[in-house]
Amino acid sequence: MSPVTACLLALLTVGFLVVKHDASVLQEVQADASAVEEAERATSVSDKITQLTQDMETCANNEDLDCFMAFFDDNVRAMRGDHPVLIGKTEARKHMTWIQHDFDATFAAKEIIPTDGSYVVERMEVIMNFPNGTSIFNGKGVLVWKKVNSDYKIYIDIFNDN
Ligand SMILES: *[C@@H]1O[C@H](CO)[C@@H](O)[C@H](O)[C@H]1NC(C)=O
Repeated sequence: MSPVTACLLALLTVGFLVVKHDASVLQEVQADASAVEEAERATSVSDKITQLTQDMETCANNEDLDCFMAFFDDNVRAMRGDHPVLIGKTEARKHMTWIQHDFDATFAAKEIIPTDGSYVVERMEVIMNFPNGTSIFNGKGVLVWKKVNSDYKIYIDIFNDN
């Protein structure tokens, strides 16, 4: 190999390594950007579900059944302790008239798990007391929220008493 050829080969190798390095840096930057995007999306979904949970609590405390039912999907599956599954909003509504009683409700989101699809899983704590402090319900539940247009509606609702 002539010194010129050797020199050219060396330059080519260095050039190749630089290009390769740039490509991997670019890939890392892209991966970081999509991780940031994913984290931002998860945060905004969590904020949205937290807000919906608080709004539901307000409807419950206002004894407003229509307001409360607005959070449910038309095809909701409601699974309450000691009851068969209730399918559809009309059926579920018949079993939610307890909302109209005077009590103090606390709905606390304990865990919000956005998926990469159009559903979000929320684990909750629900506490309901009569105004005099006597407990009515002290339990936990899971809500599966379904993305409907730019909003989320409760598609699966599972609750039971402790
Ligand atoms: C609290 O109020 C509820 C509903 O009115 C009633 O059933 C219960 O007996 C009351 N408890 C006490 C300790 O007064």
